[in-house]
Amino acid sequence: MDLDHKPPIAQALTVLGLESSCDETAAALVRLHVDGRVEILSDCITDQIEAHTPYGGVVPEIAARQHADIMDQVVAQTMREANLSYGELDGVAATCGPGLIGGVLVGMMTGKAIALAANLPFIAINHLEGHALSPRLGASLPFPYLLLLVSGGHTQLLAIEGLGQYHRYGSTLDDAVGEAFDKAAKIMGLGFPGGPAVEKIAKSGNAKRFELPRPLAKRSGCDFSYSGLKSAVQRIWQGLDNPSSQDKADLAASFQLAATDILVRQTKKALVRFAEQFANTHLVVAGGVAANALVRAQLETLANTHGFAFLAPPLRYCTDNGAMIALAGAEHLARGQTSALDVAARPRWPLDEAAANQNPASGSGKKGPKS
Ligand code: KG4
Ligand code: ZN
Repeated sequence: MDLDHKPPIAQALTVLGLESSCDETAAALVRLHVDGRVEILSDCITDQIEAHTPYGGVVPEIAARQHADIMDQVVAQTMREANLSYGELDGVAATCGPGLIGGVLVGMMTGKAIALAANLPFIAINHLEGHALSPRLGASLPFPYLLLLVSGGHTQLLAIEGLGQYHRYGSTLDDAVGEAFDKAAKIMGLGFPGGPAVEKIAKSGNAKRFELPRPLAKRSGCDFSYSGLKSAVQRIWQGLDNPSSQDKADLAASFQLAATDILVRQTKKALVRFAEQFANTHLVVAGGVAANALVRAQLETLANTHGFAFLAPPLRYCTDNGAMIALAGAEHLARGQTSALDVAARPRWPLDEAAANQNPASGSGKKGPKS
């Protein structure tokens, strides 16, 4: 598949990847072949929806305890499904940040323990890098490409120039788009997680009924803002007298359209900037919100009108998973980039450190600062 980026290796690498930075406990085994082909040998994802539903959002302490309870079982199942022993692996990768620190520690410590016991290299992975590389789990994708990363904790546009070379064009100044979906759902009592619930009910709604803000339209640059949109949803909701299910559907559809419009407008600016810098023309969307059909469709249309090809990961790999962490681990391992066993977990870990330090756009969402 991916013949454009042959890793510098003489034989295939098989890597175990662990993910526990938010509310999915996940593990996967991925094999990176000499020709760059990516093979997923096994892949287990357990969510914590039931545990967090009563609170309408992810409770960090509960998340950490749940990860600790089941991480060993998820790893055992992943190994069983691939019919492999630890001795047959080439390395162990784990998300070491950014994310909810209690959960991050569970995956990181499990990964280090396996690496130590099985005498394997350990690779500390930035969760965002996992998302950034995730489209390669389903298709061949040459560097560089323009990435729109849209999840519960992040909304960023990045030029992915090569492994470890990430240049941020813009990011959210306040809430992440996934967080806005979650909050809008909570306001309307649609349940948790909010994104899929909003998308479902929006199908029967009139997206033109409610006028909602699309901030930063006049500002140059590719930053995003979602807190005003969330407040507007709240105002409209409070103004509705005994809202009917049609009111709910109309507000959900209006919100989804506004949220998508903001993504598309800023991505359009980034496409122009990217095209000025690079000859390659791939627009890639990743992260949980990339599962949204309207977001995917609108971005595809945008890409096509600008002569870009559009790629999104398979739905299973849009939200958090172990395969993207295993792949990032294998790519680093192929280049001899491994981590010491005393590497620390990082609640905040921007992909483009320089841009984040210069303009520390931040908020207080479930994953902390969003730069
Ligand atoms: O990437 P992810 O699993 O976790 C983070 O790293 O944050 O993304 C989760 C986010 C949540 O905010 C969730 O509501 C949103 O992605 N999401 C969606 C959809 N599926 C998940 N948002 C809109 N539409 C969806 N279908
Ligand atoms: Zn994520």
